[in-house]
Amino acid sequence: MRSLRTGLSLTSLASLASLAAGAALFLTAPAAHAADTPLRDLAAAKGKVVGTAVTGSKLTGAYGDVAGTQFSSLTPGNAMKWGSVEPTRGSFDWTEADQIVAFAQAHHQQVRGHTLVWHNQNPSWLTNGGFTPAQLGSLLHDHIDTEVGRYKGKIAAWDVVNEPFNEDGTYRSTIWYDNLGSGYIANALTWAHAADPDAKLYINDYNVEGVDAKSTALYNLVRSLKAQGVPIDGVGLQAHLILGQVPSTLQQNIQRFADLGVDVAITELDIRMQTPADSTRLTQQKADFKSVVAACAAVTRCVDVTVWGFADSDSWVPGTFPGYGAATPYDDNYAPKPAYYGIAEALGGTTTTPPPPTGGACTAAYTVSSQWNDGFTGEVTLSCSGASLSGWKVNWNFGSGQKITQAWNATCTQSGAAVSCANASYNGSVPDGGSVSFGFNGSWSGSNPVPTVTLG
Ligand code: G3I
Repeated sequence: MRSLRTGLSLTSLASLASLAAGAALFLTAPAAHAADTPLRDLAAAKGKVVGTAVTGSKLTGAYGDVAGTQFSSLTPGNAMKWGSVEPTRGSFDWTEADQIVAFAQAHHQQVRGHTLVWHNQNPSWLTNGGFTPAQLGSLLHDHIDTEVGRYKGKIAAWDVVNEPFNEDGTYRSTIWYDNLGSGYIANALTWAHAADPDAKLYINDYNVEGVDAKSTALYNLVRSLKAQGVPIDGVGLQAHLILGQVPSTLQQNIQRFADLGVDVAITELDIRMQTPADSTRLTQQKADFKSVVAACAAVTRCVDVTVWGFADSDSWVPGTFPGYGAATPYDDNYAPKPAYYGIAEALGGTTTTPPPPTGGACTAAYTVSSQWNDGFTGEVTLSCSGASLSGWKVNWNFGSGQKITQAWNATCTQSGAAVSCANASYNGSVPDGGSVSFGFNGSWSGSNPVPTVTLG
């Protein structure tokens, strides 16, 4: 369960961070400077939770290893949204949400429920249903009852209301506000509390990290809810930030909410940059992650820092902000970036970012690009920096009985666990600064761990 602490993965992942600048490059040598202590243990020592948003179907292989070992809380990125759980009226699909909850329980993690009342990712039967305000109120009540009730006792905190404000601090026009008025917020909190009195209930929004009109509107709302005795336990500051733009008033803002008597969570942290990433940007990103986590660490009531996807390949950013990406602490292939070490250091870790390798090298990286019941597709990328190849062979040993069934862009042979793949006639040459990939399908059962590959 915590195999990353001693096994291949953390060691090699940490070593990969040394090459995290720019394109994803990979070392085959073991790390000289592995992060010794998982983020979750560093956070726990400070009385904090460190979480990540996850996609249920990916909770296997290297992704599952990182999610399970480094984080003490999981937030379903999409699986608990209304459109996911009730795509057709009265017909529920809890598959992915259940899967994430089960994974979290197996890994002694909290779950942050996300989200009950939002204006996005609602089912079309709801948004196009022509319901009256009274009907919408009762549909919302039922939805909260059903979902919170289903996971009663299993969810540490719920993002009950998501993104209720405009940038100027006025209420956002949504199906909820437009039909029910601002009272929908107090009602949603009250209904959620009735369904699970032990869950911490949050209002969550973006662009509320610094002190400004929007965060002040949130502040005033929380103060007024508290004064009315509405069950509100915390505020979520999403923190979808831009490189070099961590608000200077972040800690002050966290503190003013804490002083109101509510918890604060950084719920969706990512820090996007223009792509491609380079070492200057990645160094700045490390400083930015570190300052966000340090601001939370400095305030007792800031209880949780959650990243919105831990790996760049699992981030919403490139799809929404073309030209931007690399916003998370791990690269596309689950290698920790400098940002990872920024988080670790802010949590009291003594790790240092591994230095860039000296001299040139060609390296090979193995990833599982997709996986199903009994099969998977793998990919190996050879990359050269300061060196080149003419003709190559990549070797590895499968650790769990996997078998290659078909390969492309390489000739692969397998004998027992040992696999050897050599270049095809047309891709033997890998120039300095270039890369070559080949792929394969394989079978697996039980588990499908990522092997260590060596370049022969
Ligand atoms: O599941 C479908 C898939 O079947 C289809 O092939 C594919 C084609 O586009 O779309 C898939 O759905 C996507 C879904 O994510 C799951 O990947 C949607 O198009 C896409 O719009 C959706 O984006 C999500 C976004 O919320 C929607 O607003 C992101 O994954 C999710 O990370 C993001 O999360 C939000 C938080 O809930 C609230 N705060 C902001 C944050 C970032 O937008």
